[in-house]
Amino acid sequence: MSGAFTLNDLAGGAGRMDEVARSVSTAFTLSNDLRRDTEMTVLFVAEPPPRARQIRLVGERLRHLNPDERSTAALLKNALVRSIPATRETEASPGLFVGPTDPPTALQEFAQLPGCVWITESGGPLRSHRFEADSVAAILSDPYDPDPTEVAELEGLGLPKLSVGPRSLRSSQCIDVLHNELDLRWAPMPGSDDPLRGDHR
Ligand SMILES: C[S@@+](CC[C@H](N)C(=O)[O-])C[C@H]1O[C@@H](n2cnc3c(N)ncnc32)[C@H](O)[C@@H]1O
Repeated sequence: MSGAFTLNDLAGGAGRMDEVARSVSTAFTLSNDLRRDTEMTVLFVAEPPPRARQIRLVGERLRHLNPDERSTAALLKNALVRSIPATRETEASPGLFVGPTDPPTALQEFAQLPGCVWITESGGPLRSHRFEADSVAAILSDPYDPDPTEVAELEGLGLPKLSVGPRSLRSSQCIDVLHNELDLRWAPMPGSDDPLRGDHR
């Protein structure tokens, strides 16, 4: 992925960059704030290594992320364009790191993170999943389901498989539902230092 797409056709010629941008926006933006405790890695696997790219966003350092899809897509595009000559990860803008990736290796490393789960329609209910760690890492796919090779790689990671509900949602909607579920369990109530924890974690 070279970033050679037009911002005027995000849902078509850009290969559903609209949904990627929406997912990034959903992962980080709150009403007038950002989720500083969130990180996200997006794998661009349309081309194999060495041209496969990953963008890693770190909420603690993130700047220039606005809630609208077009400016988010522009941020990602600029990073991808800048990454083309790079052979290692660089910080393209504050909190946004871009570089080459080997997708299976990246997935294996990600799966080692505490509380890692695979978000998939065929999983068990998120609502009743008990997270043992104090953080959660989640893998989900873009608008196109993983192909059989990718499914085999994901199955091989041995992660808990979780469904966010009975309907097939867009990736960005899954992120919203997951954040909401974790907020309900862990986020402090406004005006109180007490976290509102559910009966289960
Ligand atoms: C738009 S969906 C993929 C296409 C979808 N399977 C369909 O039939 O239209 C994108 C991704 O979101 C996640 N997803 C969608 N709905 C889900 C659900 N109810 N529970 C868990 N994950 C879901 C999965 O990771 C899925 O691969």
